[in-house]
Amino acid sequence: MDTHMLTTPNAVHIRKAKVADHPAVIDIVRATGFFRPTEIEIAFEVFDEAAMNKRGSNYRSYVAEVADQVVGWICFGATPGTLGTFDVYWIVVDPARQRHRVGSQLLEFAETDIRKQKGRLIVIETSGSERYLPTRNFYEQNAYHLAADVKDFYAPGDDKWIFAKKLS
Ligand SMILES: CC(C)(COP(=O)(O)OP(=O)(O)OC[C@H]1O[C@@H](n2cnc3c(N)ncnc32)[C@H](O)[C@@H]1OP(=O)(O)O)[C@@H](O)C(=O)NCCC(=O)NCCS
Repeated sequence: MDTHMLTTPNAVHIRKAKVADHPAVIDIVRATGFFRPTEIEIAFEVFDEAAMNKRGSNYRSYVAEVADQVVGWICFGATPGTLGTFDVYWIVVDPARQRHRVGSQLLEFAETDIRKQKGRLIVIETSGSERYLPTRNFYEQNAYHLAADVKDFYAPGDDKWIFAKKLS
């Protein structure tokens, strides 16, 4: 699936990410204020690998647009070595556009795409720190449940929370 159109006035249009989207996506990643410089570097690499369709890459990368402006990004892919498990690696929404269901629509889009690829389980990792409370709430609202809490994973006192959702 390449496009997804809603008919409301502030319609969200989801399409495959292109190399030309790089600056807009990285601006959004930065603007969230959620990510350390090293994480932003990783976002750069992941975005480019996906957008350039590098051989062997299993990243699937989509942007959400409102009125032709990029307002969000999601990157997911089959987890190597598993049968039907997929990871959502990145999801970000422009802070000015948050709480308008752009993130939920990106996630629903990914779930539909994953189902089509016969995916059965989606895993998302995030931080257990205070700052990520809204993010964890977002996953829970989208029917992801906490599958594991790896204590002190990112740093002392900063756990890794692993969310999962079984697709029906
Ligand atoms: C997490 C994120 C992608 C959510 O995108 P979004 O478009 O704002 O989310 P939605 O509008 O679809 O939210 C759906 C529900 O999730 C919950 N939620 C979302 N953002 C929330 C917040 N800041 N505080 C509390 N609950 C929140 C709410 O229940 C919301 O429904 P409601 O607005 O009707 O109450 C976005 O906030 C973001 O980019 N955060 C920073 C980056 C990040 O944490 N990415 C994930 C890295 S692992």
